[in-house]
Amino acid sequence: MSSPQAKMTETVANSNADWQARKTAAIARGQGNIAAVYIDRAKNAEMWDVEGRRYIDFGTGIAVCNTGHSHPEVVAAVKEQVDRFSHTCVMVTPYDSAVRLAEKLNELAPGVSAKKSMFVTTGAEAVENAIKIARAYTGRRGVIAFNGGFHGRTLLAMGLTGKITPYKNLFGPFPGEVYHAPFPIPFHEVSVDHSLTALKTLFKVDIAPEDVAAMIVEPVQGEGGFYAAPNEFLQALRKICDEHGIVLVVDEIQSGFGRTGKFFASEYAEIEADVLTTAKGIAGGYPLAAVVGKTEIMDAPLPGGLGGTYAGSPVACAAALAVLEIIERDGLVERAAAIGQRAGDRLHALQKRHPEIVGEVRAERGAMLAFELVKNGDAAEPDAELTRQLVAAAYENGLVLLSCGVNGNVIRMLPALTITDELLDEGLDILEACLANLI
Ligand SMILES: Cc1ncc(COP(=O)(O)O)c(C=O)c1O
Repeated sequence: MSSPQAKMTETVANSNADWQARKTAAIARGQGNIAAVYIDRAKNAEMWDVEGRRYIDFGTGIAVCNTGHSHPEVVAAVKEQVDRFSHTCVMVTPYDSAVRLAEKLNELAPGVSAKKSMFVTTGAEAVENAIKIARAYTGRRGVIAFNGGFHGRTLLAMGLTGKITPYKNLFGPFPGEVYHAPFPIPFHEVSVDHSLTALKTLFKVDIAPEDVAAMIVEPVQGEGGFYAAPNEFLQALRKICDEHGIVLVVDEIQSGFGRTGKFFASEYAEIEADVLTTAKGIAGGYPLAAVVGKTEIMDAPLPGGLGGTYAGSPVACAAALAVLEIIERDGLVERAAAIGQRAGDRLHALQKRHPEIVGEVRAERGAMLAFELVKNGDAAEPDAELTRQLVAAAYENGLVLLSCGVNGNVIRMLPALTITDELLDEGLDILEACLANLI
């Protein structure tokens, strides 16, 4: 016999509003959702909700479905794997797909040094493991991260994150020995020189460089506002890390897998990370993350020191191998650059029409696009309310859109790299019409 609660849930109608009411009652409020849109099915760059409404997807589940939703080859690879087996634990009885994927990642990671990889399930875990590996290798304790950076929601990753609301409120204390330095953002008058001077001061005031195990940086800040790290900044960090024996961890979790018009965004600066973290786009929607780094660093932890029950799930590894084949065969890295150019041209034109509102367009990193909404054309006057309204209007008009930024005033766009020009244009038309209606 079913319980009264089960009976109640069984009889509720299948609408977005009903599901949102049930969600609010059943799922902790901390796990919020941007839109009360419950997805029924998705295909490439489009999604349909439970009411049959169609959306163009400029979010890809936050930079995950780079090869589009339910790419037939990814689906086929997953089905084939599930038919054979779905889990054995890579730390008990491994399988070839994990080995083949590691070999591929070791080849793809920028730089000439010999590499090794290890797998986990989420981006935050990849970050945690990168720091563990750096500490094991250096025997040091300190970690330096950057203002506005985002590295995940576990406690250490949260400690590294340089943005309080909504991530860090209420959750402290965070693990010790984490220090933040300014991230260069010319639009907000933080120059590369300013950042590097602050780093030097930090070495004098807070922690000596010889006590620092790792420095972690996003080549394009994601949640922080889609700010590309200037090439000379990443090159300077590389130099500082070399001088002091610090492990340079490059967090490519949001910027990787072709998204920015290079396979990894750090290729723009032509630097080699000591350790690189990757997740999201790696497996086209299946939970997988990896740490890839120089062999001598990656091999510092003892056997058994790294891993996790679901680390390198065979289903996710099969999906990742299919994703890599599609990216390479279909030229999706180049396609990301073309998407950036096409959408960037539209955004620059939008800025020209509304210079008081569109403070800056960021379109120099392929299909990782953004623009910042301000008042009076002033970078110091972020318009978070207009940003919120624009995102809400986009959903009402059939466009999935995300915001980001320390001040909540950045619209970011992460379309699938398989999106057609027609759908991209249609999404941009919706975006422009929504903004025009609001101002
Ligand atoms: C740069 C970066 N690092 C780490 C993470 C954390 O990844 P996950 O949410 O899979 O734990 C994210 C997620 O948005 C990210 O953008």
